[in-house]
Amino acid sequence: MKQFKFPTSKPDLTAVAQYLSTGTAKSIVVMVGAGISTAAGIPDFRSPKTGLYHNLSRLNLPYAEAVFDIDYFRRKPEAFYMLAQELYPGKFRPTMFHSFLKLLEDRGVLRRVYTQNIDTLEEIAGVSPEKVVYAHGSFATNHCIDCHKEMSKVDIEAFMKKDDIPKCSRCGGYVKPDIVFFGENLPARFFKLLPGDLDAADLVIVAGTSLQVHPFASLPSQVSCPRVLFNLESVGDFGRRKTDVIKLGPCDEGIEQLVELCKWDKQLKDLWTKTAKTANVAEEEDAASASQKKILKALATTAAANAEDASASKEESSAEEGSEEEDESLAQDDLDEVQQAIEAFNELEIAVASEDATASKSESAVEKAKV
Ligand code: OAD
Ligand code: ZN
Repeated sequence: MKQFKFPTSKPDLTAVAQYLSTGTAKSIVVMVGAGISTAAGIPDFRSPKTGLYHNLSRLNLPYAEAVFDIDYFRRKPEAFYMLAQELYPGKFRPTMFHSFLKLLEDRGVLRRVYTQNIDTLEEIAGVSPEKVVYAHGSFATNHCIDCHKEMSKVDIEAFMKKDDIPKCSRCGGYVKPDIVFFGENLPARFFKLLPGDLDAADLVIVAGTSLQVHPFASLPSQVSCPRVLFNLESVGDFGRRKTDVIKLGPCDEGIEQLVELCKWDKQLKDLWTKTAKTANVAEEEDAASASQKKILKALATTAAANAEDASASKEESSAEEGSEEEDESLAQDDLDEVQQAIEAFNELEIAVASEDATASKSESAVEKAKV
């Protein structure tokens, strides 16, 4: 078993900073999720108040994850494409945490980033493609769900620009980006690189993930090196090992503290400043809150379509059973709730996202959202 010279007496950010700044950590593996992008204006999935799934489950709407479900996509690809229009790379600026990944690469100590995100903000921040593993796929490649013929990025973007559902030129089947839907396999690259990376890691940094979705969720427990968590809440088995360092709070704030201790803060700020022009948004001011709002609204509309489906099938079955009146009123309740959800999303105010507010950017989406 390898020995790591990580100070165990007091595992804290100062110890991590020493481990980094003395050049002891040479092979860092980072594992991230939606929480590292919330400061960019992309909602995560499970956070109370602002998470995509949470908003829907709170309202007892059917089937929030449908938007990433392959069977549902076969029947109603519009739902996914409505969300994809909003999430499509190019609209968002990387966060300070993304620039930290680039900083690690520039210092020659980044072994790999395993990301569950499909926003590609890692690469937009400048991290090289070979350093990133998109564990849940990405928008980079696209295939027909029936005959698997590939569709180029240019072609799929042309469909999306016209608000059309992309269809295969060979068989007419629907085409979807190679994002891993529920029930689908993770990319081969994930399984190919993982064993070597876990073995080589001398520091694992986990950030912005609830560690609820397997197999990704089990990765941090498979390493024997020191581990650091930057997250709003404690997750997985963090805290069970003496050497675990847990920094609760917005991950951008945690990273800023860490780089200050390393005396790398100027380098990080320079890298982040360079990302200013990457977001192709019409108005920089309020861009993050506006995009959060649009994404949540897209999902609420998806849920409305689901509820309509559900009410249609209720009507069918109630007609058979002869209890039409009661079931129709239930369906109407569902639709009323969905309507309220859409109205609530329309009124969503997030007090962040101006350039100046970026100092406290990470807490923005999570703590200041008023629904
Ligand atoms: P989740 O929404 O499940 O978890 C996000 C985590 O980040 C939570 O623990 C939050 O507390 C935390 N968080 C949010 N904002 C933060 C911030 N500014 N700083 C620090 N922590 C913050 O998202 P994931 O774990 O990424 O799958 O979800 C995993 C998978 O579930 C996703 O990839 C997606 C979803 O179904 C697919 O799309 C296939
Ligand atoms: Zn096809």
